[in-house]
Amino acid sequence: ELYGATRRNPEGRDYSLVLTREKAASARARAEAERWRGGAIIGGALVEGGSRPVTSPSDRARVIGDVSSATPADIDRAVALARAAHPGWDASGGAGRAAVLRAMGDALEADMDRLVALLSLEGGKTLNDGVAEVREAVDFCRYYAHLAEKQFSQPELLNGPVGETNRLELRGRGVFACISPWNFPLAIFTGQIAAALAAGNAVLAKPAEQTPLIAAEAVRLFHGAGLDPALLALLPGEGGTVGAALVGHPGIDGVAFTGGTDTARAINRALAGRDGPILPFIAETGGLNGMFVDTTALREQVVDDVLLSAVGSAGQRCSALRVLFLPRDSADALIETLAGALDTLVVGDPADPATDIGPVIDAEARAALEAHAQKLEQEGRVIARRDIGALAERGDFFAPVIAEVPEPDYLEREVFGPILHVYRYDPADLPRVAGRLAARGYGLTLGVHSRIERFAEEVRALVPAGNLYVNRSMIGAVVGVQPFGGEGLSGTGPKAGGPHALLRYAVERAVSINI
Ligand code: SER
Repeated sequence: ELYGATRRNPEGRDYSLVLTREKAASARARAEAERWRGGAIIGGALVEGGSRPVTSPSDRARVIGDVSSATPADIDRAVALARAAHPGWDASGGAGRAAVLRAMGDALEADMDRLVALLSLEGGKTLNDGVAEVREAVDFCRYYAHLAEKQFSQPELLNGPVGETNRLELRGRGVFACISPWNFPLAIFTGQIAAALAAGNAVLAKPAEQTPLIAAEAVRLFHGAGLDPALLALLPGEGGTVGAALVGHPGIDGVAFTGGTDTARAINRALAGRDGPILPFIAETGGLNGMFVDTTALREQVVDDVLLSAVGSAGQRCSALRVLFLPRDSADALIETLAGALDTLVVGDPADPATDIGPVIDAEARAALEAHAQKLEQEGRVIARRDIGALAERGDFFAPVIAEVPEPDYLEREVFGPILHVYRYDPADLPRVAGRLAARGYGLTLGVHSRIERFAEEVRALVPAGNLYVNRSMIGAVVGVQPFGGEGLSGTGPKAGGPHALLRYAVERAVSINI
């Protein structure tokens, strides 16, 4: 029983309905009229300070709000409050904490249209991606509430000699630093916090530099849902300053991080260099995700799933497909269909329900993708590239690319955006080809398209991956259904949205009593 009998999926939105589109448009108009305010939130209050404007990736002329960075004094104050509040929260037990998390899930669900509008404005998310993201955030709250109740309410009774009582209990560790990415600025932000809170910790949350406003809304909702404000502080700012100060702070007891592999390594080194206790580190990082297709796969299904996985969400998911492996003999037909299908996708304003692909997150991301696309022009063979006209002048839009690459391990590292690399392989050579991809050391998602079960098993044995998807897209893991997270360079586990998610946020205490 993974979910708990009373757990409920949040409602979605169907934008083919006129009324739903009208509601979205008015939520958008209200979001555009508002001047959103971000910054450090400590003890429930926004810290006033010198602020910088936040603009929208789809229109850099549009200022949507302001944010100011947390200072070293803010961090000290937030740590002190969190340390003082943690013992009471930890002692309150799983059931009490679950009630707060469920209230947060309900608050998010009730606020869906407003949050979707802000996700689109600040994060460049399409409406459907925004809805999926709010739903995932709700799922995290409800699922971790369920785990808190199940794993943290009663100690587990263990066997022992007659007359002796043995039990094992889980307790919070103290204060967790949660450092989250811009690509799921609500779902992953909320998911990390909900997990740490569920296990009995207080939280210091550092959102990505690009998305501080949605994070501030989430923190306000947590506090509004009844969470003692001392238990959750928001500390926005740059990774190199605020992130580094948090990771090095003597008052923290663990770090949860989702983001790039290089940053995870830097945090790991910083934690290793600290004096005092050895701290737990939970990292979820990038992937060099491959999909292997054989000659029995259904072409239309492959094309649908490949495009959704590679260029959906502008390719800005750590789960996204990066390298598609096509069997030599059917590659031409598949490539032609893929190129044709790419041309039908709408790249544009994320607030328009017709849009399939919105902007990438910022100018730096776009420049890196353009540089990579140019490299592909020289070293590979560009098969298809969307023409996006003048869009690129307005915001950080990037025209999706499909390109053939000369080697199965052409990519050394993750390229985070809507660029699909295609490699033609000889089926007799599968072990070598797959082995070279695997040798890069990542292990996040893996896709297979085949009607032959043995083929899926063979690929699975050759390429390590935390999440394998057979005959479907390889994105959009659902909480409690596809626990998500990788191996090797892709992360440490435990998986987000899985039954073991809370354990690393906790300490285990065994008690043996003879009376
Ligand atoms: N959880 C997300 C997904 O499955 C990660 O990018 O797509």
